[in-house]
Amino acid sequence: MNIENVAKTQLDTRLAKAKPIKLGWSDDETERIASALNELLANYQVHYQKLRNYHWNVKGADFFDLHEEFETLYTEANQNIDEIAERIRVFSHTPLSTLRDYLEHSAIKETGTDLTAEVMAREVLSDFRILLGYLVSVLSIVSEHDDAGTEQMIKGYIKRIEKHHWMLTAFLAK
Ligand SMILES: [Fe+2]
Repeated sequence: MNIENVAKTQLDTRLAKAKPIKLGWSDDETERIASALNELLANYQVHYQKLRNYHWNVKGADFFDLHEEFETLYTEANQNIDEIAERIRVFSHTPLSTLRDYLEHSAIKETGTDLTAEVMAREVLSDFRILLGYLVSVLSIVSEHDDAGTEQMIKGYIKRIEKHHWMLTAFLAK
C-alpha cells in the first residue's frame, strides 16, 4: 500500500479548513434553550448562596444536622450550576455571570442570616419548588427541540431535588 494515498483526515480539505460545524439547531432554537437555561442558572446561583448562608449561620439544637445537610445541598447545587453554564456554552451562548444579573433574573430571593433553623429549612423547601418549576419549563422546551443532552441533565436534577424535598419535609414533620 502506498502510504501517500492514506488520507490524513476524513474531512476533505475544504471542510477541514472551515469553521466548526454548528450543532443541529437553528439560532432561534438555541436562543430559546439558552435563555431558559440562563433563567434556571440565575435561580440556582441565588439558591446556592442561600445554602452557604444557612450552612454558616444555622443555630440551635439542629445545628449539626442542618449544617451538614446544607453543605450536601450546596455542593450538589455548585456542580449543577457549572454544568448548566457549560451547557449554555455548548450552544455558543453566554451564561449569565455576574451577581447583579443573577439577582435581577432570579425568582428565588435572598434572605438575611438571623433565621431559625426551621425557617431556613422552609426557605430551602420553597426554593426547591421554584427550581422545580424552572426545571420543568426547561424540560418542556428542550424536549420540543429534541435536545436529548439537556433533557437528560435536567431530569437528573429533578429527581435529586424531589428526593431532597422529601427529606427536608420529613425533617420538618412534627
Ligand atoms: Fe463549611
